[in-house]
Amino acid sequence: MKEVYTLEDLASRELLDAGADKPARLAVIGHPIAHSASPRMHQAALDAFGENLRYIRLDIEPGQVGEAFVRMRALGFIGCNVTVPHKLEAMANCEVHPDAQALGAVNTILFEEGATRGFNTDGPGFARAVADEFDVDFSSLKIAIAGAGGGAGQAIATQACLSGVPRLVLVNRTAEKLGPLVAKLRSVSPKTEIIALSFDDPALAEHCLVSDLIVNTSSVGLKSGDPSILPAACLRKGQLVYDTIYQPPVTPLLALADSSGCKTGNGLSMLVNQGALAFQHWFPGTGPLPFMKSALVP
Ligand code: ATR
Repeated sequence: MKEVYTLEDLASRELLDAGADKPARLAVIGHPIAHSASPRMHQAALDAFGENLRYIRLDIEPGQVGEAFVRMRALGFIGCNVTVPHKLEAMANCEVHPDAQALGAVNTILFEEGATRGFNTDGPGFARAVADEFDVDFSSLKIAIAGAGGGAGQAIATQACLSGVPRLVLVNRTAEKLGPLVAKLRSVSPKTEIIALSFDDPALAEHCLVSDLIVNTSSVGLKSGDPSILPAACLRKGQLVYDTIYQPPVTPLLALADSSGCKTGNGLSMLVNQGALAFQHWFPGTGPLPFMKSALVP
């Protein structure tokens, strides 16, 4: 049994399952993939439901995603998760669900008889994480996104529009990046009021303060010594503040939010919820969330 498998290991069942007590029929594909937490949470749910199969890590080189799907199908895989950098390449190699098309990425594949279907559970996973964590109706929230021009920010902004939120404030260091995103979002949800600005816009604090939920989707906060992506003037008591980063668990933004009397949540709930929604595409009607949660936070 290996920690990480490759395309070559998909040549035959014998090769893939050598030394293992169960057949591999689910996987996460990425490059690199060694540190993915997905096997831990999915295997916990599979074991809890008595499914006699393994969820493995597959390191697939860029350009090989289509071939990986062909080989997985031939070996009787149920599906797979797709992570960086393959979320776009996967789209070109499956029948893409309309929501995943709008979100611009596929992270979950279901191999059906005669069709390879692609879904996105990152967007809905975020909406559920916020609803669960803060006990709120996601679709009614006025939301401000810091780092809206990056991949995660664009997906979360699109999810907010798919959910029909009333107001969306997009903040990015390079505000020019937001133009095409705003045009797309207006077509997804014409009724959502959309404001785009940079961090040095004088109206930043005012726009943040009227938001119910502030989300950090930038990479600021990942490295030790990073500042808070937003200043204290943008935060108020009772506001909801979510950081998509989960390592470290308390980013500078969340520390500042805590001391400002906000309610806070980190990206762990998003990770678990996107995983649970993926699992439910493979095993409809199951409730894997609690098993996945305890696998990540023992
Ligand atoms: P992705 O792969 O998700 O697109 P990215 O290009 O690194 O990742 O972008 C992540 C986000 O973090 C972007 O919104 C980026 O802002 P820019 O679009 O202006 O590059 C934001 N980001 C990264 N470093 C930042 C910093 N020091 N200050 C503010 N925003 C930052």
